[in-house]
Amino acid sequence: MSEGAKEVDWLFYAIYWFSVFFFVVITLATIYFVIKYKRKPGQKEEATIDHTKLELLWTITPVAIIVVLFHISFSAYIKNATAAEGAMEIRVRAKRWAWEFEYPNGSRSPGELFLPVNKPVKLVMSSEDVLHSFYVPNFRMKRDTVPGMYTTLNFKPNELGDSQVFCAEYCGAPKVASGQPQQGHFYMLAMIHVVSEDEYKKQVDKMDKMPELCGDKPCTPETWGEQLFAKNGCPTCHSKDGSKGAGPSLKGVFGTMQPTNAGGQMADENYIRESILRPQAKIVTGFENAQMPMFGGLKDPQIDALIAYIKTLK
Ligand code: CUA
Repeated sequence: MSEGAKEVDWLFYAIYWFSVFFFVVITLATIYFVIKYKRKPGQKEEATIDHTKLELLWTITPVAIIVVLFHISFSAYIKNATAAEGAMEIRVRAKRWAWEFEYPNGSRSPGELFLPVNKPVKLVMSSEDVLHSFYVPNFRMKRDTVPGMYTTLNFKPNELGDSQVFCAEYCGAPKVASGQPQQGHFYMLAMIHVVSEDEYKKQVDKMDKMPELCGDKPCTPETWGEQLFAKNGCPTCHSKDGSKGAGPSLKGVFGTMQPTNAGGQMADENYIRESILRPQAKIVTGFENAQMPMFGGLKDPQIDALIAYIKTLK
């Protein structure tokens, strides 16, 4: 589904059929000579004489093939490694176990990337915790995301449609054992939607606003909050059934006193808001080593919806 994919496929199959061809030829020749020159009774071995022309042929031919393949591969690599003029820059943030995308206007869409068709794109990718790898088979693209540095991917989607994103670098299993089966490296998925320019604008425009439908019912702050909770990967660490994970369970937390490293703290709207935006400000006792990432990209209506949802966890 991307412009560079054709070259990747062409090269892959060229090398594949070259290998098949020479494998068959060499194997057949080997079998033929083994039978033909088998030791026979009464026959003495003779010294073989160098055949310079033949040796030159089977040295120069593979070298020439390799030089040609290198040239094609390297020019394709360079073309795909450099961003096209006017490419749209999109931030990709990886964390256990979710992909988050940020558009040039600051809108975000966790788990879903919308791209306009036939527009060059540059992904600037980073990781908030461990190594991940952004893998899109349909685009013939794969690149690691590395904590502490940026990696980039340049491409131009040239076909409308959806494409699955995988994480191709093992990044761990969840600590919450019960009730959260859809977590872990295996479930670190996202979807790329290649759409028309108009549809792209429409999607980015409504990204930070409450959608009309949550499931098959009209959205309320509570159900939208539930969606945001899942999309942002919160269930990875926070259970809603009271079981302890990498972070405290959120069951029955709202409106109660919580022991923190800054003393007892009433879990009200302000405290939850602060915990989302600056998780290290006050840490619940027993979770001092937990490294919750900051969710500074969330907009106020989204935080309100998350709070509304957390209130329902009784
Ligand atoms: Cu992230 Cu595997």
